[in-house]
Amino acid sequence: MKFRSGRAGAQGSEGIRLAMESALTARDRVGVQDFVLLENFTSEAAFIENLRKRFKENLIYTYISSVLVSVNPYNELEIYTKQHMERYRGVNFYEVSPHIYAVSDNSYRSMRSERKDQCILISGESGAGKTEASKKILQYYAVTCPASVRVEEVRDRLLQSNPVLEAFGNAKTLRNDNSSRFGKYMDIQFDFRGAPVGGHILNYLLEKSRVIHQSHGERNFHIFYQLIDGGDEDLLRRLGLERNAQSYQYLVKGHCAKVSSINDRHDWKTVYKALTVIDFSSTDLEELLSIVASVLHLGNLQCSSDDDGNAVITGENQIKLLSRLLQVPGTVLREALIHKKISAKGEELISPLNVEQAAYARDALAKAIYGRTFSWLVLKINKSLAHRDSTYSARNRPNVIGLLDIYGFEVFQHNSFEQFCINYCNEKLQQLFIELTLKSEQEEYEAEGIAWEPVQYFNNKIICDLVEEKHKGIISILDEECLRPGDATDLTFLEKLEETVGKHPHFVTHKLADQKTRKTLVREEFRLLHYAGEVNYNVTGFLDKNNDLLFRNLKEAMCESGNGILQQCFERGELDDKKRPETAATQFKTSLAKLMEILMSKEPSYVRCIKPNDAKQSGRFDEVLIRHQVKYLGLLENLRVRRAGFAYRRKYEIFLQRYKSLCSETWPNWRGPPSEGVATLVQHLGYKPEDYKLGRTKIFIRFPKTLFATEDAFELQKHTIATKIQAEWRGFHQRQKYQKIRSSAITIQSWWRGELGRKIARRRKNAALTIRRFIKGFIYRHKPRCPENEYFLDYVRYSFLMKLKRNLPKNVLDKSWPVPPPALSEASELLRDLNMRNMVQSYCKRITPEWKQQLEQKVVASEVFKDKKDNYPQSVPKLFVNTRIATSELNSKVLQLLQSEQIKYAVAVTKYDRNGYRPRARQLLVTPDSALIMEEAKLKQKIDYVNLNGISVSSLSDGLFVLHVPCEDNKQKGDVVLRSDHVIETLTKLAMAADKANRININQGSIKFTIKHGKEGIIDFTSGSELIISKSKNGHLSVVAPRLNSR
Ligand SMILES: Nc1ncnc2c1ncn2[C@@H]1O[C@H](COP(=O)(O)OP(=O)(O)OP(=O)(O)O)[C@@H](O)[C@H]1O
Ligand SMILES: [Mg+2]
Repeated sequence: MKFRSGRAGAQGSEGIRLAMESALTARDRVGVQDFVLLENFTSEAAFIENLRKRFKENLIYTYISSVLVSVNPYNELEIYTKQHMERYRGVNFYEVSPHIYAVSDNSYRSMRSERKDQCILISGESGAGKTEASKKILQYYAVTCPASVRVEEVRDRLLQSNPVLEAFGNAKTLRNDNSSRFGKYMDIQFDFRGAPVGGHILNYLLEKSRVIHQSHGERNFHIFYQLIDGGDEDLLRRLGLERNAQSYQYLVKGHCAKVSSINDRHDWKTVYKALTVIDFSSTDLEELLSIVASVLHLGNLQCSSDDDGNAVITGENQIKLLSRLLQVPGTVLREALIHKKISAKGEELISPLNVEQAAYARDALAKAIYGRTFSWLVLKINKSLAHRDSTYSARNRPNVIGLLDIYGFEVFQHNSFEQFCINYCNEKLQQLFIELTLKSEQEEYEAEGIAWEPVQYFNNKIICDLVEEKHKGIISILDEECLRPGDATDLTFLEKLEETVGKHPHFVTHKLADQKTRKTLVREEFRLLHYAGEVNYNVTGFLDKNNDLLFRNLKEAMCESGNGILQQCFERGELDDKKRPETAATQFKTSLAKLMEILMSKEPSYVRCIKPNDAKQSGRFDEVLIRHQVKYLGLLENLRVRRAGFAYRRKYEIFLQRYKSLCSETWPNWRGPPSEGVATLVQHLGYKPEDYKLGRTKIFIRFPKTLFATEDAFELQKHTIATKIQAEWRGFHQRQKYQKIRSSAITIQSWWRGELGRKIARRRKNAALTIRRFIKGFIYRHKPRCPENEYFLDYVRYSFLMKLKRNLPKNVLDKSWPVPPPALSEASELLRDLNMRNMVQSYCKRITPEWKQQLEQKVVASEVFKDKKDNYPQSVPKLFVNTRIATSELNSKVLQLLQSEQIKYAVAVTKYDRNGYRPRARQLLVTPDSALIMEEAKLKQKIDYVNLNGISVSSLSDGLFVLHVPCEDNKQKGDVVLRSDHVIETLTKLAMAADKANRININQGSIKFTIKHGKEGIIDFTSGSELIISKSKNGHLSVVAPRLNSR
């Protein structure tokens, strides 16, 4: 076939080839997941090989179209997790790998969407995994269906009914440690929302014979061991039981009470808990366990023979115990166990039983009690599961999904009545299967407008008829033999069969067989050629098992029971019914017919279970065993029917959706009707006309290879698409990321701008307010303090104080001071004063004694001369010196003269004679007590201060001064006229030493002075350009003092 896929073409045919090869290698390794895709579909070897490949890869599930084939892995695979359940939920059946969940989900969705009841038929031989499969389905619904509080209760009950039924109906067999010994059909009811709201169970043919006998290596029903192992001491005492299975005849037949794979004690707890979940009251429980215990006690009941050969019961205690547990009077029970009551022609005859017959009666009672209790248990569970919603009427009932977990085909070395029934059941199911699959296949072709090509298949109706036909079938013949008066035996039954159905092509006996076949049959056997193979049935026990008789007096005894459960199991009405009870085979046939009716009304799905080996080992693929099962399950037949026309079919939408990328016209979207899209696509892919047909809604592809090639091309194309999708996605992702960042930035920006704007607005507002307050305050500034001006006034004060703080006068001479506002003028003055004091104080603190002395002298000078003598201002900046003539410069004789007298000050002066005013250079020494006028070493005049009457100076800038002394003192020569270059300094020192500062007179114009004997002299002062001292014509001393700039 030629491929022209748009994109794949671009990749080159080499690429396609490689992709195909890799897909094919994978297919080589794990096989195909749907048998319809097997090229060689008629080959059993190819079929088994595919199963084997998948099994080795732990792929236990494979489809035959919609039928699921499951191989028991005997290993806990990690494929039943919640994630797996989610993966299969609501997904198209073929899109995910085969799984029991896919079947479950498909049925559930069909039920929901088409509102049609569904059923899932699980079949396979013992140990193939039927019960496990049904549990997985139930769990799937429990987890994935919508839930509510009420639904949860139902769900728990549905789940919990399993351990209870398994305890009473399952047992360890050679094939399976947890073999279901009854058939089970369970309806799960769903409400309009799809939530499980109820359930109903039908049970089929419990293997009662197990109660009294087990083959070697097998056990009785689990419940007996669980009770003995797990029941508490108190309970066992009440039931009269010992904790030892070996003590009970009914438990020791198989010699294997203990099994390593079974933990009876643990299972007991589970069952006990489950019983409480499904509405068992403590009375129910006590009565149920009493029955279980009584079965064990019955098994231990012994009889011996009396002299007449009649049976007598040996253990009186046993009877008492049984009487208590069964709540039947002891005498009635004892009598019933060793007698037989026959009613004939309206008369009742009681005859004693021999030991053997008594044992038979006892076993029959045990089987009947257990069997009926099991049926009661199912009824009880059904009551607890019953859907109680009144919104559903009989017409508007909830939808259901039925689960059928029923025994598969059985072929043993020795096959008896049970195998006959079981295999008959499987024939019926096979027939249903053929009918339904063929029917649906034909219907599909018709619906799709494709011509139907008849399929050759084996219709097993002929075998079903052989077994069940009225009057002519094996069951009818068996019943006849059971009812017939006279000595009917199993062998007469065989003869009857030979007479009646001997010519049937599917029936053979030893007698009828040809030479060769005869060797494979014994005389007591008949052989049926079932659709799945030949089975030899040994007729021994057929009549007995079919009759399933319980002597009337035992039934009567049971009817007297005070045990609530037994009362329901053995109703009095049964005794009055004169009709013979239905035989076991007929009962079974009727119940099967009903089952078929139930199944026919529903849409079926199939799970076919296969057991990989007899050793219950994981990973072991026993080909012989599997081939056998593949044959018995009719899987190849199934495949042939399904592959008769076309290997593969799919709705146009689904096919187009999957493969549209292979053609540029259909990719990425096909706008027209899907059928035309598919036509375009297959043409593009180069399908040949004989390879496919287009129906009304589906495309049919004849050979798997066509599909594989398409699938391989798709695998290759996937990479291209994936890259494209990735690029798109990345772009989209980045754009989204960018948009997110951008919008975040904008948000932050706008927020920040808003915040800034608000801040500015706030500031402006405050500024405007301040200005307004300021202006208003200014206007009101002269008014008394009021709200309008208080800010302004405070501000003015504040700013004055702040200005003051910055501009405080730095020293005492600095007289600057800011102008205070009117309100602060007083405070300003106080502050100014305070500041001045402060400056003065700190100045004073800094002052040295020398400087203090200087200042004191300056102060005195100021007080005396300021504004009075012209040359005073010039003296101010000049510091007064301590002395103008250092002691060392003085003549040593002067010092001797003065002796200890201290010289406070010495200065060079000019003395003017009293007569001629001639100037003479002299030295003026100031001591503490007197002023000395010296000429070199000669004391010219000493003036004691007490005698110093005054000192006169002019107001001009000259340096002349007169020391006034009393004239009358002879020692004195009269007032003395002197001149000093430092007149202010000299006079200050002198006045201070003499303490005569107040005696300094400053004269304007002239000074009078006295010389000896009252003679007066006058000094006239005038101002001129330079200092001239001379004797004027009037005899006065004339002094022209230079004018100073400052004056
Ligand atoms: N899917 C599975 N995964 C793991 N183990 C399984 C699975 N199915 C079955 N088994 C194992 O096989 C055993 C037998 O399975 P199951 O009881 O379902 O068989 P069955 O077909 O119901 O047999 P019977 O007809 O005797 O009742 C289980 O106890 C379990 O150990
Ligand atoms: Mg089972």
